[in-house]
Amino acid sequence: MRGVLKIINPYDPGIIPEGQVVNLSSNENPYEPSESVKKAFLNSLVKINRYPDASYSRLKKAISDFLGVEVERISVGCGSSELISRVCDAIVEELDTVAIPMPSYSLYLIYAMLREASIVTPVFKDYELEAEIFEDLKPKLSMICSPNNPTGNKVKKKTVEKIIESSEFVLIDEAYVEFSDENMLNFALEFENVIVLRTFSKFFGLAGLRIGYAISSKEIAEAIEKIRLPFAISSVAVEVAISAIKSFDYYAEVRRKIIEERTRMKEELEKLGLKVFPSQANFLLVKVDEKTFDFLLNSGIVVRKVENFLGLEGSHLRITVGKREENEALIEAIGSYLRKSSA
Ligand SMILES: Cc1ncc(COP(=O)(O)O)c(C=O)c1O
Repeated sequence: MRGVLKIINPYDPGIIPEGQVVNLSSNENPYEPSESVKKAFLNSLVKINRYPDASYSRLKKAISDFLGVEVERISVGCGSSELISRVCDAIVEELDTVAIPMPSYSLYLIYAMLREASIVTPVFKDYELEAEIFEDLKPKLSMICSPNNPTGNKVKKKTVEKIIESSEFVLIDEAYVEFSDENMLNFALEFENVIVLRTFSKFFGLAGLRIGYAISSKEIAEAIEKIRLPFAISSVAVEVAISAIKSFDYYAEVRRKIIEERTRMKEELEKLGLKVFPSQANFLLVKVDEKTFDFLLNSGIVVRKVENFLGLEGSHLRITVGKREENEALIEAIGSYLRKSSA
């Protein structure tokens, strides 16, 4: 086996909750699919003896109409996770410099390491990126996340523009962008070296079906399409994703509820005296002491522990914004932990 595998840590999915727990750990959408999405799922079953359309032309057309972007600029994959891997495969040669600012999403490291890249992980407090280091590094590929996981903040467009000027290629991961007041799609249309990555897992609540897409130059889209798995997205997932786009209004209302809850949760947690990071995503990063996670777990609430992260000193929890009653349970439990520990 390849030596690099000895130094790659497996992707940590956190604790997968079982049974009657409040699950606020994986930044999933807590709401059910729309009624027409459920119907599309059921209707797609009669065709599962057939392979999906290998070119995914209907799915790409639906995404293209949704975004107002030419269809040739779109590539698709089995979740945006697959596309992170394919972008590295398409661009990174051994020992190329790949810049992965930290603290951010761990999958970038795994796929850049697999390419045996020379990886640089500049650390920015609270993921407040600055462009200067990219100007010095001149990376082959820079991997930026906005809004960022796990801090929740968006990166300034001016900074990203400078990073684009200094890098041969830039991946902008916008997995959470629909919960934000700003997006960087235009950079993918304006610059030949930018790939904007999106997913159906968060806003459209289809994490279990695995559909991701990228917007880039036609040349990059063609390269990604050439090397992805031939039938990476199931035929069921295709039908559901197309239907989800048609149900946009339903999901926009879901988003409204999530953003309203995000604001309320932040205020409630701050009232308890906790530091809560400003968030443009469907989760909140909160500074806590190292015992809070276990207390919540014992209370039947699963969140993500963020510890020993480059650029985030001390213990933090990444808490997905759930439904109101789930968020209430969380606030209640943290409140009672804080009262107990200060007594
Ligand atoms: C920043 C970021 N990018 C990409 C992904 C992968 O999403 P998916 O493969 O479900 O599209 C996630 C999942 O949590 C994420 O947080």
